[in-house]
Amino acid sequence: MIQSATIQDRLDVYAIRQQFPVLSREVKDKPLVYFDNAATSQKPQVVLDALMNYYTEYNANIHRGIHTLAEEATAAFEATRDTVKQFINAAGREEIIFTKGTTEGINLVAQTWGRQNVKAGDEIIISNMEHHSNIVPWYILCEEKGAILKVIPINEDGELMMDEFEKLLSSKTKIVSIVHASNALGTINPVKKIINAAHKAGAVVLLDGAQSSVHLDIDVQDLDCDFFSFSSHKVYGPTGVGVLYGKKHLLESMPVYQGGGEMIKEVTFAKTTYNDLPYKFEAGTPNIADVVALKEAVNFINSIGKETMAEYENELLSYAVEKLSAIPGVRLIGTSKNKVAVQSFVVEGIHHFDIGQMLDTRGIAVRTGHHCTQPLMDGFGIEGTVRASFSIYNTKEEIDELIEGVNRIVNFMKP
Ligand SMILES: Cc1ncc(COP(=O)(O)O)c(C=O)c1O
Repeated sequence: MIQSATIQDRLDVYAIRQQFPVLSREVKDKPLVYFDNAATSQKPQVVLDALMNYYTEYNANIHRGIHTLAEEATAAFEATRDTVKQFINAAGREEIIFTKGTTEGINLVAQTWGRQNVKAGDEIIISNMEHHSNIVPWYILCEEKGAILKVIPINEDGELMMDEFEKLLSSKTKIVSIVHASNALGTINPVKKIINAAHKAGAVVLLDGAQSSVHLDIDVQDLDCDFFSFSSHKVYGPTGVGVLYGKKHLLESMPVYQGGGEMIKEVTFAKTTYNDLPYKFEAGTPNIADVVALKEAVNFINSIGKETMAEYENELLSYAVEKLSAIPGVRLIGTSKNKVAVQSFVVEGIHHFDIGQMLDTRGIAVRTGHHCTQPLMDGFGIEGTVRASFSIYNTKEEIDELIEGVNRIVNFMKP
């Protein structure tokens, strides 16, 4: 019988690792093991080169200049918009707004669409597993407008209770803003079902794509979401850049966000008229170099393919889950079957900060704390977790290092 090649046979992880200079460094005299990918991913050489190339070859401000450098910079900046449009399959390039990150994208929608459409007594639905970035902007809007924040509860595996969601949904619901994949639990939410139900109730849907954008194939037209916000730095790109996708008719109907250069057509003291999409939402000089380099990050992902990445990362996750579960006292937080490669855990009697610190002495970088999801942690009755999040450049050998580290900590700290 012919066996189909395993993902390990098809993917040269060691060749991929070579593309990430930081992975060859040592921490505390040990080879770095980087498992903090959900916080930010490492950057491949092509991204670093694109940054350096912009500053050494064609650093100029964009859109306004007619000299060669300005034209080159504008072309490179706008090329990223086209690449991102394809990356998430938006219908048009004018639906791609460059922001600072996921957080700014959500705030933009809350402060523009939200202020225009949400009034006293209206309801906004989020969930119990949201990042603070998808709680606080809605809380601020509710405070200002006298609107009500409704929260979808989750079950013990860290999955949304969909029957409760259906009960919360009503003609008062104006927007459902939901995380596509949870940063603390890894859970992939059934967003198509949510979007469908919300639309039937007359509400719009924003997806927080901070985690899903790196692990899942994103097709905003197929999802039919109204807004999708994500960060460059979690998809192998530079920090300081994000993308807000919005359906064109919604973006067109929304008031402007920030005022300044670029977002205007004409300014007099008596009247200002605003620019067309997407520039209407891009006031001031943008983060040109980092936007330019984001294109290379997306090309890097495309060169491997999201499906291959997900298959490999899921294998790492299964391996880690199996090994972690076997350690005495370990409790996994986030046990849904449908997950991205993120695993949170706590160890009975040992504080997560101690575990994080002791793992660092072995060169292993994990995240500890509440992961900007305090209400979620409250729900689980814990202060925080240790979180290991996996990427395309991680290996099973690195997971073995983590397991050995946790085992030693457990034995050392045992009463
Ligand atoms: C699910 C989720 N939403 C929002 C954010 C905020 O992203 P940023 O800080 O890049 O704006 C994060 C970052 O960790 C996240 O994981």
